[in-house]
Amino acid sequence: MEKIAVLDFGGQYAHLIANRIRRLRVYSEILPNDISASELGSFRGIILSGSPFSTLDKQSPGFDGAILDLKIPVLGLCYGHQLLAKKLGGKVCRGQRREYGKAVINIREKSPLFSGLQEEEQVWMSHGDSVEMLPTGFITLASTPECTFAAVADHSRNFYGLQFHPEVTDSMNGMKVLSNFIDICGCKRDWNSDTFLNEISEKIIAVCGNRKVFLLVSGGVDSSVSFTLLNRVLGSSKVLGLHIDNGLMRHCESNAVIEYMREHGFDNLKVIDATEDFLTALTGVVDPEEKRSIIGNMFLKVKEKAFGELNLNTDEWILAQGTIYPDTIESAGTKHADRIKTHHNRVDLILELIERGHVIEPLAQLYKDEVRELGEKLGLPGNLIWRHPFPGPGLGVRVLCSDGRGETIPEDVARDLQVLVESDNYSATVIPIKSVGVQGDERSYAHPALLTGACDWKLLEAISTKITNNFRSINRVVYGIKTGKTLKYSLIPAYITRDRLEKLRAVDDLVTRQLQKSGEYDTVWQMPVVLLPLVNESGDECVVLRPIVSREAMTARFIPLKNETLEAIVKGVSSIKGIGDIFYDITHKPPATIEWE
Ligand code: XMP
Repeated sequence: MEKIAVLDFGGQYAHLIANRIRRLRVYSEILPNDISASELGSFRGIILSGSPFSTLDKQSPGFDGAILDLKIPVLGLCYGHQLLAKKLGGKVCRGQRREYGKAVINIREKSPLFSGLQEEEQVWMSHGDSVEMLPTGFITLASTPECTFAAVADHSRNFYGLQFHPEVTDSMNGMKVLSNFIDICGCKRDWNSDTFLNEISEKIIAVCGNRKVFLLVSGGVDSSVSFTLLNRVLGSSKVLGLHIDNGLMRHCESNAVIEYMREHGFDNLKVIDATEDFLTALTGVVDPEEKRSIIGNMFLKVKEKAFGELNLNTDEWILAQGTIYPDTIESAGTKHADRIKTHHNRVDLILELIERGHVIEPLAQLYKDEVRELGEKLGLPGNLIWRHPFPGPGLGVRVLCSDGRGETIPEDVARDLQVLVESDNYSATVIPIKSVGVQGDERSYAHPALLTGACDWKLLEAISTKITNNFRSINRVVYGIKTGKTLKYSLIPAYITRDRLEKLRAVDDLVTRQLQKSGEYDTVWQMPVVLLPLVNESGDECVVLRPIVSREAMTARFIPLKNETLEAIVKGVSSIKGIGDIFYDITHKPPATIEWE
């Protein structure tokens, strides 16, 4: 089989590159960045991934220089592009300005890498540093106004470097670029994704051996596909599912899960209501990572309790999880990746179990789109497969908390922000709370900006990008859909309580029903609704609507809902007691993440 290697420098999209190459029917493997050239002889091409590091830092990861003597095509992406340039004698400089999000490259040289592309193409950028001087033998293929060396090549040696990320869907013809690279490598396209099901089935049987499998079934796409797959491969007598109602689920969610599983003949699913355990453990907690860790660990504690009650011997069982690739990469599960957020299935107790060989994760290499494809192959119904993803920690990471003591926003930031948006006739303030973001492969925890003015989505999108590119202390921008005139908000002490969960559940349920009614449920990929510890002048808490489109959750774009849908949502939400102003998140990922925590 002809294959392409992806060297992993820890970039959030490294694995996505391999996924894309496999989609183009060429087998691709992710390998550690420090692999020796001698182990790469059987590969037809090498791709160098992005990284949260800067090539200008002493500790930054490198690669074996002998790779460049193997006479195989090399494609560097983002950090990989900068590293390749440096290694061959070029120069990289620290960026004055960061460039995140959409950009348009202007292609000025012919190259097999850009075969079939237009002169101008939309690409996705996420970088601070830039190549400043090319190595000898290289030419510039394309530039953007912000980045002179957006694409470069040494055609004689088949070395290529791209500052943008062709692997993310927002690089419109990114797949074409990767496909062209496959042609440059001369690979046959003989990798068949249908073989995947057979492969994981064999792996499940081998890893489980004589042990039975125990799985936490939230009812989301990943756990449902995993549960079905394990039942199919091992038989229901060797599989036990446990659905834990953690009190952080959506409106009537647990009942729906139980009903579905019973309807489909799964009689090996137990249900436990552990609301009290979870809410007690979360009392008074504000920090998002602490919340995530408490929730993840509590799942295991409840599972242990259930084992005791059911008289099961832990040694005879292996824990299965529906973990998918973004859960691992965002939790810093690969060597150089930065920790963006700890997913519930990557907390310390689980990591210990993984070390001891007590965990099996059949979907760990896959992205959501691939899990859905597998679900279809397994015959799961469309309404389950196409449900919006819901995070394991549930509403626990959508009810934002505060001890009431916010940081003061520096006056110059507030002033410069206002100046930046004034020419477009908008007003902007910084909100005194924080949310998680991902910028240049690194985690950020920074303030959102609130914009008010005309509802012109195109302009709002451009201003949002301008703001996050210009202010390091702002990683997210929201637009005031329903606000009072004064824009006066106070931060309040607010934690995870039944009352706040009920409020958010009511808004979330209303939003979901409106999306279904308007037919937008299928175009929107996911729509978190977030409750803020922030009250307006009437003392009512504010909520954020976050509709996005994505393919695999590693990148996402906010999308405008239809006017009628938005009007219906605003009308409905306004009638929910205790809910005040409504904000609309107009930030892509990066620089923000999909969830706020
Ligand atoms: P972010 O917020 O990182 O989310 O852009 C990417 C996708 O992952 C989901 N998500 C989680 N899923 N356990 C999960 O199973 C988690 O701890 C978790 N945190 C975020 C999120 O809803 C989005 O679809």
